[in-house]
Amino acid sequence: MNAITIQAHDDNGAGRQCVSRRAFLLSSGAIVSLAGLGIPGLVDAAGTPLQALRATYPRQRIGKLSALAKGKPVHFKYPYPSVDNILVKLGAPAGGGIGVELDVVAFNLQCTHMGGPLHGSYKEAHQMLGPCPLHLTTFDLTRHGMVVAGHGTESLPQIVLEVAGDDIHAVGVMGLIYGYAHNVTGSRRG
Ligand code: FES
Repeated sequence: MNAITIQAHDDNGAGRQCVSRRAFLLSSGAIVSLAGLGIPGLVDAAGTPLQALRATYPRQRIGKLSALAKGKPVHFKYPYPSVDNILVKLGAPAGGGIGVELDVVAFNLQCTHMGGPLHGSYKEAHQMLGPCPLHLTTFDLTRHGMVVAGHGTESLPQIVLEVAGDDIHAVGVMGLIYGYAHNVTGSRRG
């Protein structure tokens, strides 16, 4: 995989890359790595595969493959102690999925629209998170957290996972967690 490093340019979100339902990820005021891998199934208007921007954080063990039950999310904190996420075995292959069936993914639990809580909203039948209780945004967890309905326009931040034996590790985040001005430094908006 080729990777390049880019630096976005402000602290207030003005330099944030525009992300639509089709465009995937963003950058704001942080040094991030632009993965050289296209996102399967997601292309721009010209048919060029979209790429994901990824911020790297310290590696953290968050669970075991053998302990996951299909459709039963497990909560964990990452990359900061205050940030809630879920780890879930979808039962269907997913973008960024790990495990034999490529169906284990992890996502942040704050809605990208205005930070609404998505806790307890996982829909096993459709592998979706939502609707958000505030304005009904719903995210497709098989497609990198893409918005499929509601007021939100930005994909849900996806936690980047790696496997070592049976252990699942979080190693980064694709997208900006709501309320944070910087992905890497973790500083919150004032
Ligand atoms: S805060 Fe979630 S849809 Fe508005």
